[in-house]
Amino acid sequence: MKPDYGIDAPGVRRGMFSAGIVGAAILIVALTTAGNTSGALSTGLTVIAMLAGVAGAYGFGMAAYMTYGSRVGKQRTRERLLDLANQIAPWTGDENVLDVGCGRGLMMVGAARRLTTGKAVGVDLWHAEDQADNSPDAALENARREGVQDRVSVETGDARVLPFGDASFDVVLSHWVVHNIAEAADRSRAVDEMLRVLKPGGVIVLADIAHQAEYQQQLTARGVADVRTYTGGWESRIIGALSGGSFRPQALVGRRT
Ligand SMILES: C[S@@+](CC[C@H](N)C(=O)[O-])C[C@H]1O[C@@H](n2cnc3c(N)ncnc32)[C@H](O)[C@@H]1O
Repeated sequence: MKPDYGIDAPGVRRGMFSAGIVGAAILIVALTTAGNTSGALSTGLTVIAMLAGVAGAYGFGMAAYMTYGSRVGKQRTRERLLDLANQIAPWTGDENVLDVGCGRGLMMVGAARRLTTGKAVGVDLWHAEDQADNSPDAALENARREGVQDRVSVETGDARVLPFGDASFDVVLSHWVVHNIAEAADRSRAVDEMLRVLKPGGVIVLADIAHQAEYQQQLTARGVADVRTYTGGWESRIIGALSGGSFRPQALVGRRT
């Protein structure tokens, strides 16, 4: 069976889809009514229909993008990000890798596929609103489906207080997690925790849909070297433009000094 890395932010996706339905319904009713009236009323209804059409198209478009991103896009992104991490400090296969906010195991399993004697650990709080059906069992089942169950383990823990010692990992990965932490100070704690558990010379991959400038500033201030930005593909640019820049999947990759 194929792995199933789940649907991210299922409530938001439902909301976008509902906005699409409501927009389409208003468009049809307003256009039909405009056709049966005349003058200013008809013009007003046509304008309302156009606005509802734009809002509906936006809702459907975002829902479609979120489905694509969860089902297809992020598995491609995973390999590109792991390639980048490998370019900054080539892997030998015996690394200890941490996936912070692993959800159903996307990055943890991807990393484990590149290991031989090394281990990949996933840690998460299993918030259902952030990803549908995320659980330790779901992450381990995906590891089994990708044939790496002997190289992974999963723990429950908060990104802001990681349950690991200083300098425990060669690579720390986090994909679409930190934006879920509401307060900037708490996001900063999470990034500091990732750097604390990373060995000097180790590589951090911090991928998210927002707050890139905030993370970049913090990594630079903490002396992370070789920081590179992965700007994402065409879909990332389109979504960034449609959302006025507030939602743009990107990643920072760098080396702890
Ligand atoms: C959008 S999902 C992404 C999951 C996975 N990284 C992926 O890309 O498929 C965000 C994940 O972050 C987890 N999460 C949110 N806040 C967290 C925190 N403070 N500590 C640990 N995990 C957290 C959620 O439970 C969820 O599994």
